[in-house]
Amino acid sequence: MSMTQDDMKRAVAQAAIAHVPNDCIVGVGTGSTANFFIDELARIKHKLQGAVASSEASARRLQGHGIEVISLNDAGTLPVYVDGADEITRHLHMVKGGGGALTREKIVAAASKKFVCVCDASKLVDVLGKFPLPVEVIPMARSYVARELVKLGGQPRLREGFTTDNGNIILDVHGLSIMNPVELETMLNNIAGVVTNGLFARRAADVLLLGSPDGVQTLVV
Ligand code: 5RP
Repeated sequence: MSMTQDDMKRAVAQAAIAHVPNDCIVGVGTGSTANFFIDELARIKHKLQGAVASSEASARRLQGHGIEVISLNDAGTLPVYVDGADEITRHLHMVKGGGGALTREKIVAAASKKFVCVCDASKLVDVLGKFPLPVEVIPMARSYVARELVKLGGQPRLREGFTTDNGNIILDVHGLSIMNPVELETMLNNIAGVVTNGLFARRAADVLLLGSPDGVQTLVV
């Protein structure tokens, strides 16, 4: 029987458990691959102090498994953060935020010593940008930020009917071919009204666990 995308996500989620030290507080991402990781964490919950969640949805899933959710302010620096991505390169630069949780994801990743990215093979790309780049924006700045994004060569579209966990909107920026993700991440952060953008290049992943039909490949930079 051939391996489905879900089989690959489950395999990388299982492999990520090896990166979780005993008795730690683990950082947990958001999305379908992160959900498989949460389900795997449930099996070792007796060996965990708890988890810091990057979204309300992940917090609910963790709590549903009886895993204690700890606020980042109480947790301090985390040994490891495990999360998926919408696109990732061999430099382990990523586009994230397909699920709209980019801001809290970036915060928890920043507060973690090691970022383990878990993806199926479809997420590996040579150049970022085919997946529309999510940008979280303060609602009153929507039009201004959209105009600035057009100046940078993108085509921003409002994510209709969506509000982030932080009460903001998302502009999904189409049509970018991102040759220098570190530079673009910084430029976007400098637009007034932008809370966060979905480029994770300044703080890239440290390890990529990539699911393929042949098994889980490990990539490090
Ligand atoms: C959510 C994210 C996710 O990591 C990203 O969307 C990948 O999700 P999935 O594992 O469902 O493909 O950044 O904001």
